[in-house]
This record gives sequence, C-alpha cells and structure tokens, in this order.
Amino acid sequence: MSDLSPTDAAKHAAARKAVSYIEDGMKVGLGTGSTAAFMVKCLGERVRNEGLKITGVATSTRTADLAASEGINVVTLDDAKWLNLTIDGADEYDGNLNLIKGGGGALLMEKIVATASDRMIVIADLSKQVETLGAFPLPVEVIPFGWQTTKALIEETLINLDVMGRETSRRMNNDEPFLTDQGNYILDLNLKRIGNARRLSLVLNQVPGVVENGLFIDIADVVIIGMGDGSVETRDITDGSVTHDDAPEPGDDNVFAGIADS
Ligand code: A5P
Repeated sequence: MSDLSPTDAAKHAAARKAVSYIEDGMKVGLGTGSTAAFMVKCLGERVRNEGLKITGVATSTRTADLAASEGINVVTLDDAKWLNLTIDGADEYDGNLNLIKGGGGALLMEKIVATASDRMIVIADLSKQVETLGAFPLPVEVIPFGWQTTKALIEETLINLDVMGRETSRRMNNDEPFLTDQGNYILDLNLKRIGNARRLSLVLNQVPGVVENGLFIDIADVVIIGMGDGSVETRDITDGSVTHDDAPEPGDDNVFAGIADS
C-alpha cells in the first residue's frame, strides 16, 4: 500500500475494516464516493478469494458499474427489499454520528439504501469529523421543474433557521447543470454551521420540489475512521464502544495491490 497517499491509505484502512463485517449470504448496500470505491474493491477481493457469496445493492450507477466489474452480484433494492448492512462514506460526521452526505451527488439513493438496512457503517478519515455539521455545503436534491422557485423557497425557509450562512447554488458539471442518477438537480447550501440538523432536515423536505436532503440523522450506527498509518478506530454509537486496530503487518494487504489505480 506504499503507493497510496496518507489520505488514500486512511480511506483504504477504513474500507478494509468495514468489509470484515460482511458475512456469507448478507445483502449489502454499497455506498458511493472515493472511500466507498475502496470498500467495493476490498469486497471484490473477498468475493474472488474466499468465494464469499453476497448480494449488493448499489447507491449509484458508478458504484453498480464498479461492483459488477469486481464480480459482485448486484441487484436492485426492489429485488433485495431489505439489507443487513450498508457501508458508505460521508462528507461530515459529528459526535452523534449524524452526517452530511451527497458530495458525490448520490444522496437520494444513499439515503434510501441506508434506511433500508439493519445497520449502516460509515467509513471515513479524520478530516470528515466535525463538532457541528455545516462547514461542508449541504446538498439538496431538487426536481428540475421550477427549480429556481424551489431555490427561492429554500432561501426564504433558511431565514428562520439556526444556520450561519444562507448562500445556495445549483451544482454544475462544467457548463451544464449536474444531474443526479434520477435526473434531478443538486442545490448546495453553504450554511457554515447548522444549529439544529434534525429540524433543518424536516423543514427542507417540506419545500415543494425538494426530493431529499443530505442530512443523515439517526441513520448511521458505526463509524470506522481510517488513519494514514493504516490503523483504524471503530466507534459504535449503539453501545458507545470504541476499539482500535493496528495497521496490518506488511504482506497482509497484498490482495489489495493495485487498488490505487481505480
Ligand atoms: C456521495 O454522494 C457522497 O455521499 C459520498 O459518500 C461522500 O461524498 C464521501 O465521499 P468521499 O469518500 O469521496 O469523500
């Protein structure tokens, strides 16, 4: 793993640990983003090397493509119906394991899949840890029809909420509006500090045109924090336990050689 940057080594360490929670026969939600991509690759290694039989439900077309290329059996959520576990990254997590997600634009499918799971494990590095959510702009998925009205309504709603910033912008992909896998737009809300994330999430979802927002409240159960040296810390919010694992001995991780190329 010496070819990984410290940040990627941290993401890989968290991903590897999270994949150790997956057991034969499980139905697993597969997250989206660079940390989740490490997880999908680690899982692919287990499927190929151990003959692990699992069913995956992807949270984006990107992840579905990667998982299929790794030899993981991918089905729709409607086929799987309910999942044992979802493993996904986050843009921010706080001390109660509330999250901001959607930096990669997949928040809607991510929230549906995580909510349809017995357990959600967040994989992250320490840069995602915050005291209070909001420094990362909050993504909100909106329907293209009347999006400017929806944006104005959101801005009006924010006036009465405990947030520090109120700037909103439609996410772009070069010169075109960014489109989610469901064909929607993303509005990024630069709130700087969110005083009451639970209330904000409820209020945002009442604005007509809003499909979903990137606040994950009371959804995640465990966060696995990877460190640049390959060690991990696992915090389980359900029982308050915190455990540490050292980096694997050299040679232990050769099954992941080439992972940085993805
Ligand atoms: C995708 O929409 C996001 O929710 C990602 O899970 C989040 O942005 C974390 O991505 P990275 O692992 O790439 O930081």
